Amino acid sequence: MLTAGEPSIGLEEAVPLPDHRSTSAVAPPAVGGSPRERAGAGGALANHESNTISPAPCGDQRDLRAARLAVMGELASSIIHEINQPLSAIVASAEAAKRWIERDRPVLAEASAMLDDVISEVSRVADIVTGLRALARNQEADATLVEMNSIIEEVTAALRPELARLSIRLELSLCSDGLVVLGSRVQIQQVLVNLLRNSIEAIRDEPVAAPAISLTLQPSGTSVVCTIADNGPGVAPSIKGMLFEPLATSKSDGMGMGLAISRSIASSHGGALDLLPTPTGAKFRLTIPRHIAVAGDRQPGQVSSEGALMASPRPLAK
Ligand SMILES: Nc1ncnc2c1ncn2[C@@H]1O[C@H](COP(=O)(O)OP(=O)(O)OP(=O)(O)O)[C@@H](O)[C@H]1O
Ligand SMILES: [Mg+2]
Repeated sequence: MLTAGEPSIGLEEAVPLPDHRSTSAVAPPAVGGSPRERAGAGGALANHESNTISPAPCGDQRDLRAARLAVMGELASSIIHEINQPLSAIVASAEAAKRWIERDRPVLAEASAMLDDVISEVSRVADIVTGLRALARNQEADATLVEMNSIIEEVTAALRPELARLSIRLELSLCSDGLVVLGSRVQIQQVLVNLLRNSIEAIRDEPVAAPAISLTLQPSGTSVVCTIADNGPGVAPSIKGMLFEPLATSKSDGMGMGLAISRSIASSHGGALDLLPTPTGAKFRLTIPRHIAVAGDRQPGQVSSEGALMASPRPLAK
């Protein structure tokens, strides 16, 4: 952590990537201590405000290297966390395609539909990895117009089988106004999936009577506000203070990355992710600036004559 009187060096440091290309990455603000301490002090993906690190004393390259390794470790953890679910979907679709082909009378149309799913999930994985690398490098990502209702419907459709298996009722309260934000569709999906998964896991781990998750979307001033609340056990007091820090988890199988990545994505969109007080269960609020259409804007999802998607993309706010 930078202390008064210490000179600082910039965030952007050359970091060797696994593919041996060199790029710049966000160095964490502190070096040394446990991985939790390093990451919790403002890990690369989770903190866009900490823009400086302490210089290594007397140019000690080992400390700088340790800082870079911490960045790489956090990026790796984030990628592992975020691509697990699409990878499972890819395996399931590929296995289903194989079954359709291996039937006595193969049904190629079904197999082909399954392979389409594989292709779209693989491209989602690529987009997720690209987005995480951009976040870790504090780089600007291209943004497009995103219609929040449609994103929520996509995300909840994918989770419905699991909700049904656990008898969790999902109450959706969407906005008829068709709220639009300027951002990364894949990254906003990631945030919603992470929040919904946490609610599902909280209820799964400590079952309650009439388990339910409610998701509400509404405008608020110049923002779009999405709240996700559940009637599970609520956030344990012991973890409340570090909820959004990387590696903070109360679960035996948790990585403690979901909320850290999600808050980082929210802030890269110029928004916020917070835990709200609630008498029972847990309630999280995602806020993203609302895009107000101006004459000449294309509709979300509309493809231009050049084939580019929607209104002119612009970099996400930092
Ligand atoms: N809806 C919720 N109800 C109760 N506790 C929650 C809820 N959401 C988050 N938490 C608490 O916040 C912690 C951090 O959540 P986060 O999503 O960052 O990590 P995780 O779920 O433990 O692991 P993973 O990285 O696999 O998502 C959780 O371990 C849990 O203690
Ligand atoms: Mg989680």
